[in-house]
Amino acid sequence: MKTLIVYATKHGCTEKCAEELSGLLEGEVNLCNLKKEPFVDISQYDVVIIGGSIYAGRIQNEVRNFCEDKMNFLDNKRIG
Ligand SMILES: Cc1cc2nc3c(=O)[nH]c(=O)nc-3n(C[C@H](O)[C@H](O)[C@H](O)COP(=O)(O)O)c2cc1C
Repeated sequence: MKTLIVYATKHGCTEKCAEELSGLLEGEVNLCNLKKEPFVDISQYDVVIIGGSIYAGRIQNEVRNFCEDKMNFLDNKRIG
C-alpha cells in the first residue's frame, strides 16, 4: 500500500500535520508540498491524502489546481 500526502501550506501548520500523519500510517508514505512540486505523478499510489489550509474562506490555489488537474485519476484512488 503506497500513500501520497499532498499539501500546501502558508505558515507551516499543514506541513506539520502532514509530517505527523505520515509517521502514523502503515506502508510507504511520501509527502509532496505542492508549492515546491506542483506536477506530482500520482499513478503509483493507492491512497492520496490532500491537505491544505483556509484563508478568507478559500483553500490554496495549488490544492484546488491539483484536485482539478487530477480529477479523473483520483476517481480510482482511495482519498483522504
Ligand atoms: C489571515 C488569516 C485568514 C484565515 N482565514 C480562515 C478561514 O477563512 N477559515 C478557516 O477555517 N481558517 C482560516 N484561517 C486559519 C488558517 O487556515 C489556519 O491557521 C491554518 O492552520 C494555517 O495553516 P498553514 O500554516 O498550513 O497555512 C485564517 C488564518 C489567517 C492568518
